[in-house]
Amino acid sequence: MKKIVVEGLKYKYPLSDKLALNDLSFEVNEGEFIGIIGKNSAGKSTVCQALVGLVPHFYKGAYGGKVLVDGLEVKNSSIADISLKVGMVFQNPFTQVTGSKMTVYEEIAFGLENIGLPRPVIIERIDYVLDLLKIEQVKDHNPFDLSGGQMQRMAIASIIAMQPDILVLDEPTSQLDPAGSEEVFSAIQKLSKQGITVVLAEHKMEKVAQYCNRVLLLHEGKMVDFDTPEKVFSRKDLEDHGVVAPVYTRLCKALGIKKAGSDCYPVTLEDAEKALRGQIG
Ligand SMILES: Nc1ncnc2c1ncn2[C@@H]1O[C@H](COP(=O)(O)OP(=O)(O)O)[C@@H](O)[C@H]1O
Ligand SMILES: [Mg+2]
Repeated sequence: MKKIVVEGLKYKYPLSDKLALNDLSFEVNEGEFIGIIGKNSAGKSTVCQALVGLVPHFYKGAYGGKVLVDGLEVKNSSIADISLKVGMVFQNPFTQVTGSKMTVYEEIAFGLENIGLPRPVIIERIDYVLDLLKIEQVKDHNPFDLSGGQMQRMAIASIIAMQPDILVLDEPTSQLDPAGSEEVFSAIQKLSKQGITVVLAEHKMEKVAQYCNRVLLLHEGKMVDFDTPEKVFSRKDLEDHGVVAPVYTRLCKALGIKKAGSDCYPVTLEDAEKALRGQIG
């Protein structure tokens, strides 16, 4: 089933004279884990905002084409209705915290109380996400006392508690140290394995290669490619689009070693090791 359908999407921010998104069309199936890559200003964040309806409802501007999330047309739906289907996690977890709640538990309860769920359901959902995101040990802490990785996992927990079918993350670990990043990525992977459709704008290509089943490559608001990480990272013109392939891919490219039985280069450590061992014999 198609969870996301984007058809001929064009978008220009108010007061801007160029298109931020220029005729994008792509579809995402239920349960896929999609990466969005491209250099700065390519349009990654704008695509994320278009999936949750901030484009065009919050930012306004000139909008053409269609975005459907779980069958709902974004242009004709309220952000409140869209948010029941699509949850968004921003770059900086600080911007996502209410700032008015004394504990992690209350912070996660906030959205659930807002939509008027009964108390027992709220408790059940909070217990579930505290366990899933591995933050039960900090449930009574003040949100602002958390580490970056914990705070971002709390933000994701608040979103997941709302049970969206689609999770959109815009460079969710760019403010975190490597340990915090790992915590967040393993949480996202767990959600993906449970069948949530994930869209991740990301500049850490090793992570995109490791987790995403397809990659959308953007350049100046246009779609350059939408294919498997192997295909996209093996493109000869990748660097023309401001993207540097994972280190494993660059090494294998330099040595001229492709993935066994494929016309592409390895993109993960595991595949690179296999291909290199194959050469040694
Ligand atoms: N709030 C905004 N107002 C006007 N222009 C914007 C705004 N946000 C982004 N843009 C422009 O839209 C284009 C795409 O930006 P963005 O989606 O943020 O790219 P990325 O996330 O890939 O760095 C860029 O040219 C950027 O300058
Ligand atoms: Mg961005």
